[in-house]
Amino acid sequence: TATDTRFARHLSMQRASAAEREAILANPGFGNYFTDHTTIIDFRVDASGVGGWHDARLEPYGPIALDPAAAVLHYGQEIFEGMKAYRHADGSIWTFRADANAARLNRSAVRLALPQLPEELFLESLSQLVAADQDWIPSGDGESLYLRPFMIATEAFLGVRPAREVSYRVIASPAGNYFGGEVKPVDIWVSRNYARAGRGGTGAAKAGGNYASSLAAQLEAEAHGCKQVLFLDQFNDNAVEELGGMNVFFVFRDGSIVTPALSGTILEGVTRSSVIQLGRDRGLQVSERKITLDEWRDGVAGGEITEVFACGTAAVITPIGQLRDGDEFIGMADAAAGEVTMSIRRQLLGIQTGTVEDTHGWLTRL
Ligand code: COI
Repeated sequence: TATDTRFARHLSMQRASAAEREAILANPGFGNYFTDHTTIIDFRVDASGVGGWHDARLEPYGPIALDPAAAVLHYGQEIFEGMKAYRHADGSIWTFRADANAARLNRSAVRLALPQLPEELFLESLSQLVAADQDWIPSGDGESLYLRPFMIATEAFLGVRPAREVSYRVIASPAGNYFGGEVKPVDIWVSRNYARAGRGGTGAAKAGGNYASSLAAQLEAEAHGCKQVLFLDQFNDNAVEELGGMNVFFVFRDGSIVTPALSGTILEGVTRSSVIQLGRDRGLQVSERKITLDEWRDGVAGGEITEVFACGTAAVITPIGQLRDGDEFIGMADAAAGEVTMSIRRQLLGIQTGTVEDTHGWLTRL
């Protein structure tokens, strides 16, 4: 089966009326509503063992018919990406660092033994969907159309081996602040009972299972009044890894910025790498290094660490308030959002939405 790169458009439709859509766009929240269409590309390995992508198409959004024996339902062979589409003042629509997401999807594919998707097909799957559903892009501050490409093992077979039938899809969801309401510092719970990833595991891949494994810890966090959970490497001096669904950064009093080094167990965030670049553009010293929970606690207590923030495509840049480690509270309750944090947030959103010059060529027109 050779890879076929043509896209077919099956019937177009609107699931929501214009009035319903406008009501949703006035207050989208995160992950609640989905647009009218989806793009799909299927993959199969033929009898001679050759694999290829086929039947690229745009379809109305709707349920997926899957065989109950589909491998994804049993063994979790799944990967995904998170991206956003932004409408600029002149009406044009752009996405951010799509090449980085295409490359990461393929790194995740290798780790989960799924087929790699050619970058041009990946880009086409985004632009076809956004062209059909562009009326769903919200225009408020910090709002965008969240794009969720994902790949699932659809073959009906219960032996444990890589599936020979796979489906890749993209869905889209109008998005405001991930945490709801206005941007304000979120409190974080330290997970002592659960790890997210281990050496040699799937932590660096964007695989659904990593997020499933964060949920028990996330429940603990919520039971303690926190919005996200922090994972540590308990076999490495309690080095800070990442939050349930985002990376973490520290701003020091001397202006330097630190984020945990990529150890193979944390996700290589596209926002993370953009923040590193924007920090260096400002002439700041940005280090990717080991930073332990002790350094966080002592640094906040001694005033060396002045701001902590989370970042991700969904979270953009979100200030972190208090860290809760059992009965111990690190940082002050109800602290204001940090200045450096909010300034980097404004710069990043400015580049994405076209009000700040894109000097790195990060935007791609869809
Ligand atoms: C994103 O930031 O796009 C993510 O994928 C994190 C998420 C699981 C909400």
